Amino acid sequence: MADPQEVLAQRVQSALGAAFGADFAGTDPVIRPSQFADYQANAALALAKRLGRKPRDVASDIVAHLDADDVCREIEISGPGFVNLTLREEWIAGHTRDLLTDPRIGVPEQPAQNIPIDYSAPNVAKEMHVGHLRTTVVGDAIVRILEFLGHNVIRQNHIGDWGTPFGMLIEHLLDVGEDSEDAERVKTDPNAFYQAAKAKFDASAEFADRARARVVALQSGDPETLRLWRELVDLSKVYFNKIYTKLDVTLTDDALAGESMYNDMLGPICDELERKGIAELSDGALCVFLEGFTGREGKPVPLIIRKSDGGYGYGTTDLATVKYRVEELKADRIIYVVGAPQSLHLQMVWGTARAAGWLPEHVTPYHVQIGNVLGSDGKILRTRSGQPIRLMSLLDEAVERASTVVAETRPDLDGDIRAAIAREVGIGAVKYADLSVSHDTEYTFDFDRMLALHGNTGPYLQYAAARIRSIFRKGGLAPEEATGPVTLGEPAERQLALALLGFGPAVRTTGDTLEPHRLCGYLFDLAQSFTTFYEKCPVLKAGDDATRDSRLALTAVTLRVLVQGLELLGVHAPERM
Ligand code: ARG
Repeated sequence: MADPQEVLAQRVQSALGAAFGADFAGTDPVIRPSQFADYQANAALALAKRLGRKPRDVASDIVAHLDADDVCREIEISGPGFVNLTLREEWIAGHTRDLLTDPRIGVPEQPAQNIPIDYSAPNVAKEMHVGHLRTTVVGDAIVRILEFLGHNVIRQNHIGDWGTPFGMLIEHLLDVGEDSEDAERVKTDPNAFYQAAKAKFDASAEFADRARARVVALQSGDPETLRLWRELVDLSKVYFNKIYTKLDVTLTDDALAGESMYNDMLGPICDELERKGIAELSDGALCVFLEGFTGREGKPVPLIIRKSDGGYGYGTTDLATVKYRVEELKADRIIYVVGAPQSLHLQMVWGTARAAGWLPEHVTPYHVQIGNVLGSDGKILRTRSGQPIRLMSLLDEAVERASTVVAETRPDLDGDIRAAIAREVGIGAVKYADLSVSHDTEYTFDFDRMLALHGNTGPYLQYAAARIRSIFRKGGLAPEEATGPVTLGEPAERQLALALLGFGPAVRTTGDTLEPHRLCGYLFDLAQSFTTFYEKCPVLKAGDDATRDSRLALTAVTLRVLVQGLELLGVHAPERM
């Protein structure tokens, strides 16, 4: 166990049990980072009330029973009853060196859970927008982190592949011809296809009639209609996969689990809810009214599960996702990485599923709320002419802009190598920008800021890793050849080592909270600790061999943590930059 906070928590907890009896062994020792020491244990303050004693006396009882001499060099009571804890340099150094040979770099494996995660979810024959970009990037980082923590993660790409728009899309496909260039464009520029279909639908009554008849044919399972529908889905898959490849995310066709998959479940879901008295008819629509969900003037808000025309909506399909993920995928946790405005919808879906007995108490659903991505005008990001942004051109622009950066920083490298670096830097910058702010906040899409080589950006961290690699190249050895031992003389060395021990806790917390920005913040702090270390402590030119070996070891662990940390975010660290 290399997480100092965790180790100290265990030791203080044992002291609590020893000092105050077994009843107190489970008390939270309240270990916090401290200004005056490495950590402080604040348990005495709350315990004093419970014991009816002075906090300082309680603190000295804790200290008297605390067995931590192997971990701490100083244990001191301060203020009203804080216990200040300063770690031994040898303890930090020993554990830092262990990280060198630990394939998990201090990240503990958790008991495996089955975790379906719903993310990306673009719509067939439609452009993916920056909102989809963000759920894709955030979802994929969460997937990587949870998998690294040892979970069985089941990707669920809930694509919009069903519903009334398919009537007009199929008719338009027939009009332009299945093998036409227009149809092919669904693979590259789906919006053009969608807009053309919509324009016809709005302008021609004859087309609209055909489209409506086509919806009926689709829903009744007409084979020819289903074939055309599948063709549209297949064309779209090509488009989705192009974006996913460009983004370097882990989604493949295996993850596809779109709305259409749940068709057969929708009728029975409505029947069961009606039979159980959970759903009722209201103005011809089948609705669920849950306690606590009220709108204006206290009017109850319904979750509509069957519209008055007999059609189903998102409420019903999302109920089906819960049922499927619990019953078929044996979920322990279910994660929905979906836009923040869907919060009420999902709460109602989960409430209904609980009432129906489809979502057992031990299964927790989470909504990872995705905030909007705005343009510089503070509105939803669009092109200058007001069109929705084409995601592919946005990503191309990121790479293009990154290539100008790389041309400046590394004019010495070959064009091909520079282009490869630019791809990693450009895409990394876009992804990191999505990840480094908390996922539910709105943020402004700004190429200059995301590509900056300073601040909490992807390129800054990629550059930090590349710089470390160049230290090893200069020293003529591979990072794996740095084996320590580690000795901590300078404060900057000590601080860096402590930061390195923080990797495990940072990954664990990120997995528990499903907040990738925590890992970003950790990596950014680590890179800064490294910069301070590198300024204060010469590595290759260290005064003696032992110091050089120790500093090389610290440098090698830093590299591993940075590269692994970025990998968990889905950002690749180039060899050179
Ligand atoms: N396809 C929807 C959209 O583009 C998002 C679906 C999100 N997932 C879900 N299970 N509701 O807005």
